[in-house]
Amino acid sequence: MPTETVYGLGGNALDDTAVQKIFAVKGRPADNPLIAHVHRDYDLSRLIDYDPPYAKALREAFLPGPLTLVYPSTGKVSKYVSCGLNTLAIRVPAHAGAQAFLKEVNLPIAAPSANISKHVSPTSAQHVYDDFSGKIELILDGGECTGGIESTVCDVTGEIPVILRPGLITQEMIAKVVGACKVYTPKLQSGEKVKSPGVLYKHYAPRCQTRLFLATEFDEAVKYGEECLKNGERVAFLCDSAVGKRILCPAMVLDLGDTPEEMAASLYARLREAEKICDRLIIIEPADRTEKMVGVLNRLHKACASVDVPH
Ligand code: TXA
Ligand code: MG
Repeated sequence: MPTETVYGLGGNALDDTAVQKIFAVKGRPADNPLIAHVHRDYDLSRLIDYDPPYAKALREAFLPGPLTLVYPSTGKVSKYVSCGLNTLAIRVPAHAGAQAFLKEVNLPIAAPSANISKHVSPTSAQHVYDDFSGKIELILDGGECTGGIESTVCDVTGEIPVILRPGLITQEMIAKVVGACKVYTPKLQSGEKVKSPGVLYKHYAPRCQTRLFLATEFDEAVKYGEECLKNGERVAFLCDSAVGKRILCPAMVLDLGDTPEEMAASLYARLREAEKICDRLIIIEPADRTEKMVGVLNRLHKACASVDVPH
């Protein structure tokens, strides 16, 4: 199913078999919980009973939209959705096609991003087809996703909201509505149970070698590219438009655009193009460090991680 962020691989969240099939088809680790998607008029009291006033304020400000809220669970959906956590993530996507579908079925639909686990998330029906052709029955083609990176995941089980995964709804935007908002970073050494297991995995990775350079390392990145070319590798550069214009061979540039919104919307399509055209993807980090870039930079770093690392 399409959403405004990325395509989702949907199954009835009330049905154990459907939810287990999602994990099997994706090859998803069994400890990484799923988000339940509902339409805008869905009665949330069917799924949750604890709902602090600030969560309501966040829903009014941002939903339908790319913000997933994590509530204490009441055990109403399949136990496989939350993978043993005592919480349930719920999202109301803004995409008109997603709304129409969710309204029609009138069910909570568990849906992770519709990519093979750890591969780049899909922002078009073609991307979904490329990963799952022959493995799933139907793709609802809702065009290209306009958001481009996954929703902000925000825990609302405590006194103030805590961001578990950054996205286009930023810490600042949330704090502006409800006064305060923290960002969660797992303290693995302490043996603490991780609140959102998905943050631990290498993700969004194209099937080519990647190397990340800082915005200030343009010359080093180009030199490295030349060495790779000499070694007979096919090379491409992923960067913002301004940096792309400085690279002498335009055919080697995968252009992310200029604004945070453009970069988010194009990131996954460019990473999927990269694996088709090159062996070595050289990523030059965009210089933009504004709040809206937190999610984009988070995904870029995870696409380059060589091992499973916390973000
Ligand atoms: O934009 C999106 O959120 C897309 C579209 C399809 O809606 N979905 C998506 O799902 O990105 P997925 O499964 O790829 O990522 C879900 C994230 C993971 O990091 C997971 O750990 C976290 O949400 N999550 C799900 N349930 C949770 C829970 N109960 N507590 C904490 N984190 C949870
Ligand atoms: Mg995903």
